[in-house]
Amino acid sequence: MKALVLAGGTGSRLHPLTFSLPKQLIPVAGRPVLELCLENVRELGVREVGLIVGEHAGQIADVLGDGSRFGLRITYLHQDRPAGLAHCVLLASDFLGDEDFVMYLGDNVLVGDVTAAAERFRAERPAARLMVAKVSQPSCYGVAELDADDAVLSVAEKAEKPPSDLAIIGVYFFTAAIIEAARGIEPSARGELEITDAIAALIDAGLPVVASRFSGMWKDTGTVEELLECNRSLLSELPSRVDGEVDAESVLRGTVVVEAGASVVRSTIQGPALIGAGSRVTDSRIGPSVSIGQDCVLTGAGVTDSIVMAGATVRGLAEVTGSLIGRESELDSTSAPSTHRLLLGDRSRLGLTAGPAR
Ligand code: DAU
Repeated sequence: MKALVLAGGTGSRLHPLTFSLPKQLIPVAGRPVLELCLENVRELGVREVGLIVGEHAGQIADVLGDGSRFGLRITYLHQDRPAGLAHCVLLASDFLGDEDFVMYLGDNVLVGDVTAAAERFRAERPAARLMVAKVSQPSCYGVAELDADDAVLSVAEKAEKPPSDLAIIGVYFFTAAIIEAARGIEPSARGELEITDAIAALIDAGLPVVASRFSGMWKDTGTVEELLECNRSLLSELPSRVDGEVDAESVLRGTVVVEAGASVVRSTIQGPALIGAGSRVTDSRIGPSVSIGQDCVLTGAGVTDSIVMAGATVRGLAEVTGSLIGRESELDSTSAPSTHRLLLGDRSRLGLTAGPAR
């Protein structure tokens, strides 16, 4: 079995971050989402990966290389515009040949076992085995309607009135029949070749399409809230580890990781929290649910429920919460309390609330 991993797209719901960084490389609990995907793919016993990349291809290749770090061989497949998930299948048709494959969405994070579903797929070889999970807002996803034996009766993409509350999550097992099905579909109203339309074509042709219910943690990381939720979940699973330096005046509570070369001085870290390698945290209150990337500087800062990316500086802001702070950003509140000096990228979002400092 091969793998087709999708890491193109525009990430428009995460602008302005994704103007310069592909959403699949945003770190959750210190790891880019795409690395977690590739590790899961490897656990399925797959070695050959076709990786769909778009405008940020260079950055993705810099991080993943030829895949050998993960025990994989990556073939990069360039998509010049995000024309849909079924378009990715067509683009990969030469790479896939007539082999079975797992299609993995590069912005989805799964913690839990999909190997049992992979084994069943290998043994039974239906045209498609989808992974599904119950969600509270099915209209935000592709959904599948199942019979009592988990055969898929119908699928719909982000429907106003979805036929079920079972979202199709980002792992699909296919035989090469999906390539033929994708060749026969037309772009949807949003102008994309939808994988759900290709799956519907398999069902219409009378081919077996079945589903496995996923019971672990699953998140699509397409929005700020989803990324933060994912960060919270993954941080809470990390074991505590202090490889950096923590001075006697600092307090660590709960699950805290301080990576090598990081220093914590006169600060309180409330876990779950991760302080990345080479970062300096001084006179600050960090956590819970905060991951700080490598080489960040936090001085006199208060940060909860946030992702601070590599090389960022936060000075003197006492109540940063629910935030994604991009690489090498500088946040500084040393100006007079009622003035704000801002240099924000296109489509930045700034939420300021009045209130006493901690
Ligand atoms: O997260 C699960 C959902 O993913 C499913 O329930 C939906 O049925 C499925 O269509 C998909 O919906 P999204 O709107 O979340 O898909 P998104 O545009 O975020 O793309 C998913 C991944 O595929 C992401 O890593 C970007 C990549 N991609 C997307 C498109 C449209 C590509 O590489 N090329 C593309 O043309």
